[in-house]
Amino acid sequence: MFGASVEIKTPTQLAHMERAGHTVARMLGLVREAIAPGITTKELDRIAYEYLEEQGATPNFLGYYGYPATLCISVNDRVVHGIPDRYALREGDVVSVDGGCFVTDETGTGWHGDSAFTVTVGESSALDRILVETTETALWAALAALANGSRLGAVGRAVEGVVERNAKRTGQRLTIVREYVGHGIGTAMHLPPDVPNFVSRDKGPRLKPGMAFAIEPIIVAGSQATRILDDEWTVVTLDGSHAAHWEHTVAIVEGGVRVLTALDGGVAGLAPYGVIPATIP
Ligand code: MF3
Ligand code: CO
Ligand code: CO
Repeated sequence: MFGASVEIKTPTQLAHMERAGHTVARMLGLVREAIAPGITTKELDRIAYEYLEEQGATPNFLGYYGYPATLCISVNDRVVHGIPDRYALREGDVVSVDGGCFVTDETGTGWHGDSAFTVTVGESSALDRILVETTETALWAALAALANGSRLGAVGRAVEGVVERNAKRTGQRLTIVREYVGHGIGTAMHLPPDVPNFVSRDKGPRLKPGMAFAIEPIIVAGSQATRILDDEWTVVTLDGSHAAHWEHTVAIVEGGVRVLTALDGGVAGLAPYGVIPATIP
């Protein structure tokens, strides 16, 4: 594609994005600690909303094309965009939580963060654990590939590699959902370009310092076919198979990457790949 421009941030602007990213990380940390059998997804959403309010940050999902909550919480066969409601979590559930916010700089510009994690509640099936671990590994492999790579297409190659290897090793069916992709992020939650989790002919834009992306593999334990519920948001698998979703906001900086939605910048997650996060200059 010609002229598909990617927003370039100054180091100061990336620092604002890191402030948003750390707020998202702490918010999701609180939600993760609260996950237990019996808590409703609406109660988890309230924890997130109140934390952002207390921090002076603004939820970026709430009101987005009319979206009614701070978080997306997608349980079991819900793939993404699950609306928090009165459903109480149960032992064995697979729970994906996606959340974001923006913080405002001195010029009034909002800087966005977006991140997601998936956990199993209490005792879980081996298949669900493989699904969740594979998706998290795919995310970190993709982030490491960006640190070493020269084009955005490194993401899709890394995700496919992890999913294929783990499917072969475990004998489980693991499928990348191609319909939902990562994205550029910065002055809005969703900016160009798309960041597919699969190899495509387009190798993607050349990576340059100041770019920022939300990397977010979504993997199901069955067929990737999905439909949207009558609430017009919740995406579910057609075959009822469970889904996992992991996401981080990452900046391309001189000498590598920095994971803006990880409190350690990605030190722990990137270590297995021999990658040390770069710092914002
Ligand atoms: N945060 C999601 C993503 O990872 C998008 C959420 S859309 C919303 O891109 F409307 F639910 F906010
Ligand atoms: Co998200
Ligand atoms: Co996203």
